[in-house]
Amino acid sequence: MEQPIIDPWESTIKLEYDKLFKYFGIKPFSEIRGKAEEVFGQLHPLLRRGVVFGHRDYDKILEAYRSKESIALVTGFMPSGRFHLGHKMVADQIIFYQKLGFEIFIVLADIEAYTVRKLDRKKVIEYALYEYVANLIALGLEKNKRLHIYFQSNYEVPYYRLIQMFSRKVTLAELEAIYGKLEPSKIVSALTQAADILHPQLDYFGGFKYVLVPVGADQDPHIRLTRDIADRFHAELGLERPASTYHRFITGLDGNKMSSSRPEHAIFLTDPPQQAVRKVFKALTGGRATIEEQRKFGGVPEKCTVYELYVYHLIVDDKKLADIYRACRSGELLCGECKKQAAELLVKFLEEHQRKLEKAKDKVLDYVEPPKF
Ligand code: TRP
Ligand code: SF4
Repeated sequence: MEQPIIDPWESTIKLEYDKLFKYFGIKPFSEIRGKAEEVFGQLHPLLRRGVVFGHRDYDKILEAYRSKESIALVTGFMPSGRFHLGHKMVADQIIFYQKLGFEIFIVLADIEAYTVRKLDRKKVIEYALYEYVANLIALGLEKNKRLHIYFQSNYEVPYYRLIQMFSRKVTLAELEAIYGKLEPSKIVSALTQAADILHPQLDYFGGFKYVLVPVGADQDPHIRLTRDIADRFHAELGLERPASTYHRFITGLDGNKMSSSRPEHAIFLTDPPQQAVRKVFKALTGGRATIEEQRKFGGVPEKCTVYELYVYHLIVDDKKLADIYRACRSGELLCGECKKQAAELLVKFLEEHQRKLEKAKDKVLDYVEPPKF
């Protein structure tokens, strides 16, 4: 069984999530959801509703939490554009785990954006601060001693030492088996990401802790590499494999991947509310061709980008969500009315959020130190 190659730098691929179980040994999150709810006492809607669909070693995180051991969450953002609802999914998970007491490490992947994506450095830094960090603060990320936000190009010495040491124990052939065709920039990015994920375990950063990495499923190649590297440095540095969870991508309003490169089909957290409403009204739904057909056969929420907005972001109450699902399926609810309801919820969220965002922008530099160039 030949493993397919997932290219974490190719943003347009559509992942077939089932293959991840079959080829890569990712486990279905559904199998552990009950236990997670019991251990944490509650679950974020993204974890409850199958949006987070896969994991590696999450059981270890649950055990560690139960026995009150220290756990770090590490995740990162490529600051390549404006912050949209896809990024908010990661932010929501970070904040959920922060409230549970996890130590939080947030990587601003400016080196990856500069080397692989070849973006302008000034813009990357600007986006990282005033889109990513500012939105995270406005969404409720708490500043405390156990929160660390850093730029890949501007961190502590032992982190860089890890990148250098890691290069000794990986081969080009093995990297190519994971990533396909390589360039030096990709090798640097991959080893940097391994250091992002593993450095919290070093004595310098407080000593051993369990590590959880919640990411989009396209990031699994980096997780596989990082787990292998941890094994190889177990004896020398005491590193252990990280655990991970994988979430589905949110669909853009045209049915393709939500991306800042196609802004008319993405909802940005800084969109003027009325502009966001216009996007929602143009969104691809699971509705039928005519009203008559919809009344007769009902809509298909599984294929609907508006329904996805409810599931991923707009409705917290599971019962309300189930009501919409039923009303859509039965043909009772038509798409026009449904979009109107979604638009109202979205406007309310954006208005409140943007008020907080204005204040958050002044605080960004209390949270993170930007690189000098
Ligand atoms: N590669 C990630 C992305 O493209 C960003 C990232 C960098 C990251 N370091 C990380 C994600 C460590 C998780 C953990 O979005
Ligand atoms: Fe989507 Fe709502 Fe139309 Fe159902 S009624 S297909 S959920 S927009």
